[in-house]
Amino acid sequence: MTNSKVILLVFSLIVHQVLIANANGEHALVPALYVFGDSGVDAGNNNHLNTRAKAVWPYGVDLNNITGRFTNGKNGADFIAIYLGLPMAPPYLNLSDHEKSQITTGINYASGSSGILNITGDGERLPLKEQVRYFSLTVERDLPRAIKNKKELEDNLAKSIFLLLTGANDYFLPPNRELIEKLGPQQYANLLLEEMAVNIQIFLEIMKNMVRITHLKEHCYEKDKVPLCEDRSKYFLFDNWGHPTEIVYKITSMDCFNGTSCVPLSLFQLANK
Ligand SMILES: *[C@@H]1O[C@H](CO)[C@@H](O)[C@H](O)[C@H]1NC(C)=O
Ligand SMILES: *[C@@H]1O[C@H](CO)[C@@H](O)[C@H](O)[C@H]1NC(C)=O
Ligand SMILES: *[C@@H]1O[C@H](CO)[C@@H](O)[C@H](O)[C@H]1NC(C)=O
Ligand SMILES: *[C@@H]1O[C@H](CO)[C@@H](O)[C@H](O)[C@H]1NC(C)=O
Repeated sequence: MTNSKVILLVFSLIVHQVLIANANGEHALVPALYVFGDSGVDAGNNNHLNTRAKAVWPYGVDLNNITGRFTNGKNGADFIAIYLGLPMAPPYLNLSDHEKSQITTGINYASGSSGILNITGDGERLPLKEQVRYFSLTVERDLPRAIKNKKELEDNLAKSIFLLLTGANDYFLPPNRELIEKLGPQQYANLLLEEMAVNIQIFLEIMKNMVRITHLKEHCYEKDKVPLCEDRSKYFLFDNWGHPTEIVYKITSMDCFNGTSCVPLSLFQLANK
């Protein structure tokens, strides 16, 4: 991994990601996707931890009620896996020892409650250091059981994509949500547009897609307070913690993959490098 490339991507207007990667796969664009980070990409690790920061129903309501993701359906890591032609990376803590010895297409080590959820949450979580420790177990213990040839294993890892969602993004933090309320969605969008136009050309395209989202301020759901909204595709925020809806993850992942929000390379370009 030492000769992997480190590329800084701006994942749409919302989050900043560091991708360490290079790639080229056969059926899929790359052999595997490994995911690290917080609730923005957690796919269910926190289900296995003693914490209030758990995504229980109606989280997952648009994903066959599979809980553990901090949104109504798939998150950004899931969409990226799909666009790469891979299965959605399963949460590490949800895997049996046997499953760990079989999976070669990537694993998700992310855990909610660092970053945004640290504000409200407490209890157990997987800090990045712990996530990386689990990843090294995957590399040293599990992957060699699935890929016996050492050269093949090295090649597999060198071509895989490593997605790290560093979380804490300005758009979702409480002060910013206050600003949205103060200015109203249109003015806030204008403000964002002004800010972002300085750095990113892309941006108009995303806004065009976002226009379909009519509820920018209200969240779709809040435990014991706001019942689950009917049309999740019209909401920007799923919950009162600032987690976006699946549609937002879809739009932003797609733009990162084949649009212009991820620089200097789109994910598609990165995967084909
Ligand atoms: C965890 O594993 C169980 C059993 O295989 C499965 O039913 C469940 O959907 C998994 N949860 C997640 C979040 O992947
Ligand atoms: C998901 O859970 C809700 C509430 O328990 C239920 O009404 C709905 O039928 C479930 N949907 C699926 C696809 O299982
Ligand atoms: C991205 O663009 C490439 C090249 O045009 C295309 O083959 C691929 O299907 C696109 N991927 C997605 C997820 O739209
Ligand atoms: C998150 O919370 C833990 C303990 O509750 C604390 O040690 C840690 O510094 C916090 N991290 C951040 C980024 O605020």
